[in-house]
Amino acid sequence: ADYDTGGFQHFLGKEIHEQPAAILRTLSGRLDERFSTAHLGGLNLSAREARDFKRVKILGCGSAYYAGGIGAQLIEDLARIPAHAEPASEFRYRNPVIESDTLYIAVSQSGETYDTLAAVHEINRKGGTTLGVVNTVGSAIARACSGGMYLHAGPEISVTSTKSFTCTAVAFALIALHFGRVHDLSPADGRRITEALRALPEKIERILEDEEHIASLAREYAEHESLMFVGRVRGYPAAREGAQKLKELSYIHAEAYPASELKHGPLALIGPELPTLAVVPDDELLEKNLSTLGEIRARQGRILVIGHSAPDAKLAQDVILVPRSEPELDPILLGIPMQIFAYHAALALGRDIDKPRNLAKSVTVE
Ligand code: G6P
Repeated sequence: ADYDTGGFQHFLGKEIHEQPAAILRTLSGRLDERFSTAHLGGLNLSAREARDFKRVKILGCGSAYYAGGIGAQLIEDLARIPAHAEPASEFRYRNPVIESDTLYIAVSQSGETYDTLAAVHEINRKGGTTLGVVNTVGSAIARACSGGMYLHAGPEISVTSTKSFTCTAVAFALIALHFGRVHDLSPADGRRITEALRALPEKIERILEDEEHIASLAREYAEHESLMFVGRVRGYPAAREGAQKLKELSYIHAEAYPASELKHGPLALIGPELPTLAVVPDDELLEKNLSTLGEIRARQGRILVIGHSAPDAKLAQDVILVPRSEPELDPILLGIPMQIFAYHAALALGRDIDKPRNLAKSVTVE
């Protein structure tokens, strides 16, 4: 059943809809309610070792890199360890400084992406510690790392990543919870996160039920040549992945910017012909985000908000609502409507959904 579309028109649609079940598998056996933490024996790190790292560097390519961006924020938020994501393809060519008190985490659905594997080899050669967050069991990257965790997302056939992206973000929430609970995350905060993780599959089901509404918006926006995606802090890696999905699937030009940076350059592009998709969760940055929407509206740009509540209709013409979670986990849910949006924009334009032109599922050559 993994290798047919199971009644869906495309693998992509099937894989989008599989996400609640895929996340359950990523979580399975890993949440510890009693101590409000995550059990991740595969990391092969003692509590002492997990405490001693001073920094985390996350490496991956494409969607794996964007998922790493969500992961870096989760680790900083929950474990208060400085964390940063970088494209593995850049890292390996810039003679990076490898530090013994940095934990390196390689992210890959296939486990075979050559740039990511080369980065792992370079870190290993220089004595660094590398963990893998990988979907494919026994793959080259999984084997090259000293430990890690498998996503258990199941086979992903469509070239464009959906369930593996979401499961990677969930895997990072588990890693962040695990590191947090050997650092300063309180049992109460640990419980808050474990409970919110358990609730994710059902919340994703609710987003999937909104598919027809999202599809009708996608068909309208697909008439534009270009779209701007914006988000702040937690919303930014989600916006980047949203833009990536739209580019890959529909071939519509899309650019993702931190909402805070709009006024430092790209605001010059905004006008009636360039709509904006804004990721606006109800978090501590809501007011800042609403003021960015005001700046866009002042230039007659059409706005589609993805968030928890509908802003004033003067600020956003279109809204897709997602269920609330804990703020740290918001990016996981905010990403789902953008997958559906890109899928339906591509359908409207008659694109080759499961095999976009010029792309390969995994790039195993230099
Ligand atoms: C290719 C695919 C992307 C994917 C990237 C990383 O470029 O087209 O969709 O995100 O590789 O793949 P990986 O298997 O390492 O996650």
